[in-house]
Amino acid sequence: MKSVDDFRLRFGKQELVPIVIGGMGVDISTAELALEAARLGGIGHISDAMVNTVADRRFNAKFVKDKLRQYKFNVANTDKSMVRFDLGQLAEATEMHVGRTMEAKSGDGLIFVNCMEKLTMNAPRETLRVRMAAALDAGIDGITLAAGLHLGSFALIEEHPRFRDAKLGIIVSSLRALQLFLRKTARCKRLPDYVVVEGPLAGGHLGFGMDWAQYDLATIFGEIHRYLQAEQLAIPLIPAGGIFTGSDAVSFLEQGAAAVQVATRFTVSKECGLPEDVKQRYFEASEDTIEVNQISPTGYPMRMLSNSPAIGDGIRPNCEAYGYLLDSTGNCSYISAYNREVEANPGVKKISVRDKTCLCTQMRNFDCWTCGHYAYRLKDTARQLPDGSYGLLSAEHIFRDYQFSTDGKIKAPE
Ligand SMILES: Cc1cc2nc3c(=O)[nH]c(=O)nc-3n(C[C@H](O)[C@H](O)[C@H](O)COP(=O)(O)O)c2cc1C
Repeated sequence: MKSVDDFRLRFGKQELVPIVIGGMGVDISTAELALEAARLGGIGHISDAMVNTVADRRFNAKFVKDKLRQYKFNVANTDKSMVRFDLGQLAEATEMHVGRTMEAKSGDGLIFVNCMEKLTMNAPRETLRVRMAAALDAGIDGITLAAGLHLGSFALIEEHPRFRDAKLGIIVSSLRALQLFLRKTARCKRLPDYVVVEGPLAGGHLGFGMDWAQYDLATIFGEIHRYLQAEQLAIPLIPAGGIFTGSDAVSFLEQGAAAVQVATRFTVSKECGLPEDVKQRYFEASEDTIEVNQISPTGYPMRMLSNSPAIGDGIRPNCEAYGYLLDSTGNCSYISAYNREVEANPGVKKISVRDKTCLCTQMRNFDCWTCGHYAYRLKDTARQLPDGSYGLLSAEHIFRDYQFSTDGKIKAPE
């Protein structure tokens, strides 16, 4: 019976343990978590989602305060189109977050940054270019482009001196999305160094509609694998979404996967950025408390625990401080939903907005509890303590369990 440790992910001459911890914004996949993956010989992701906020928290910086001060006059205005990111500050915050992480790196593994393109930030191209270039400047090993892949992203950093040496990867959920990206990027004469194939059981946003349950990772992975073989394209494929045990991982590695990307099991690690009480909510999850809904203003379905405080909350949009989801015309669907409820409920102090959520504020406050489909199995991975709570796990324990376990088993800590 094989274990994940019988396989290696090869990038040129470099050999890695084929385990990638996926990006989890907003600072749920912390630098500490990513650093553990790298130390153990795999790949860890930090995320650049809401990087100004993350840099403030990590380094006591004042990026959010500065932005809010600049746009305070607009807080009560329903039109947010003038709220813009200062590109210099965005670069500075990214360099701090990425640079300090890279300085702390040890071991033979790699650290990548997860860059969600759906963070349109009221100037999609300019802000994405700055985010990617600043991460490369700060020495990141690789960039994983996620959520909302728009096809010209590689071209945005084509002139960067590290364009050909850093690892660049994309996340797709269908063969069609991959084909479109490859066609569009052909001009740059640079293929992705890896492709994450994310199925419908993943956490975060899904690259599927509400009919997600009709798709399955193994089928999509097989289609993409056969296509790449037929085209003689040797791009490492990394399946993700619902790979819960080492044996789940082995079955993909035996079918030609170069590595696996996993996330949900690490949400209950000590190194994960979620607050301790929220980690307990993840442990307590049962299958019927995990839902896929459409409250994310990005337009993508998102999986979350149904007791997430973000659901139904009606806080005032705070785009003057955040504004990561403002599209290129300065709109976000939460703003419209919020304004509609305010108008319909005159004089009501605390309104509820059910169809959309203010994802920036909710993610920033760890009140949107996104998770993978199998979050309800987390309780089986840990020990329950006499007071009924669950003991957190070390990232190393979870990583090694993926690496060495066999027979579908999960090892609880001693
Ligand atoms: C709490 C959480 C937050 C996530 N946030 C992001 C994100 O910001 N960007 C992204 O591309 N994927 C995100 N994901 C998806 C993961 O990176 C990963 O691909 C997927 O969850 C793997 O499936 P698994 O959780 O079943 O192991 C998130 C997943 C979780 C559980």
